[in-house]
Amino acid sequence: MKQVIDFTIVSRVQMGTHFFALTIQHPGKMEPILPGQFVEVAVRGTREVMLRRPISIHDVDAEKNQLTLVIQVVGKGTQQLSMLKEGDTLNLVYPLGHGFGVIGEHPLLVGGGAGIAPLLYLGKCYQLRGVRPTFLLGGRSAELVFATQSFETIGDLLVATDDGSLGYHGLVTEHPQFMDRYDHICACGPTPMMRAVARSARERGIGCEVSLENMMACGIGACLCCVTPTDKGNLCVCKEGPVFDATMVKSMQ
Ligand SMILES: Cc1cc2nc3c(=O)[nH]c(=O)nc-3n(C[C@H](O)[C@H](O)[C@H](O)COP(=O)(O)OP(=O)(O)OC[C@H]3O[C@@H](n4cnc5c(N)ncnc54)[C@H](O)[C@@H]3O)c2cc1C
Ligand code: FES
Repeated sequence: MKQVIDFTIVSRVQMGTHFFALTIQHPGKMEPILPGQFVEVAVRGTREVMLRRPISIHDVDAEKNQLTLVIQVVGKGTQQLSMLKEGDTLNLVYPLGHGFGVIGEHPLLVGGGAGIAPLLYLGKCYQLRGVRPTFLLGGRSAELVFATQSFETIGDLLVATDDGSLGYHGLVTEHPQFMDRYDHICACGPTPMMRAVARSARERGIGCEVSLENMMACGIGACLCCVTPTDKGNLCVCKEGPVFDATMVKSMQ
């Protein structure tokens, strides 16, 4: 069930130049979270940002009732959030959207930029099923790839950067082990990256889920600002997604 509630920040960790991680404590018992679900964060302390900002759930500690979010500073809202410190509160609407299916025995989880964030908890859900996923993380440079050590503890890690500063020099879809031996693919990141991944998966007859990051406002299917054209008509990414079967999404075809 959706909740609107104040979490308390128990740790704030800077991750390179662009990202920071907030681990936040629920005051009581947290709702169950599916991998790929997201939260809508209220940005307090400025009149310039009225709307909540959607952020993926990076990690979940159900025993401690804690969530971790990883946020990239791109504009006024995320800049304001970056000033939060331990002990501050963060008002969330959560959990939102439909998550990944956790399908397959040899999954490839592909992330780019902030789209890397939801893959850690997804990987942990595969691990619970006894499946070791392969992560393929990409970014323009090493600074835009984060949490590599956490990913390495639960799966096999491949990295590709546009400038070659970390891992393979090139796009994720050019990585020599892209599409090696996988039976299911999950992707989250920039649209061109997800489209390329989805097309390769379709050509090889492999199932592929994509997590779309359309701009959002209400986050609950009321304002229609996040719709995406699909084979089933225009669907709200916040409510029907953000995770979709790639074959049904027009922008992935
Ligand atoms: C389901 C979902 C999950 C997300 N998860 C994360 C996450 O885990 N970590 C994270 O750092 N970011 C995530 N994002 C993106 C994040 O919501 C935006 O970066 C944030 O809302 C920007 O707010 P701002 O006020 O800082 O920027 P604004 O001032 O609103 O915009 C600054 C710039 O960022 C662009 N921008 C804004 N929102 C988006 C978006 N959704 N996609 C692409 N470009 C955008 C704008 O066009 C503009 O150029 C997610 C988005 C969605 C929809
Ligand atoms: S953000 Fe309002 S309908 Fe999706």
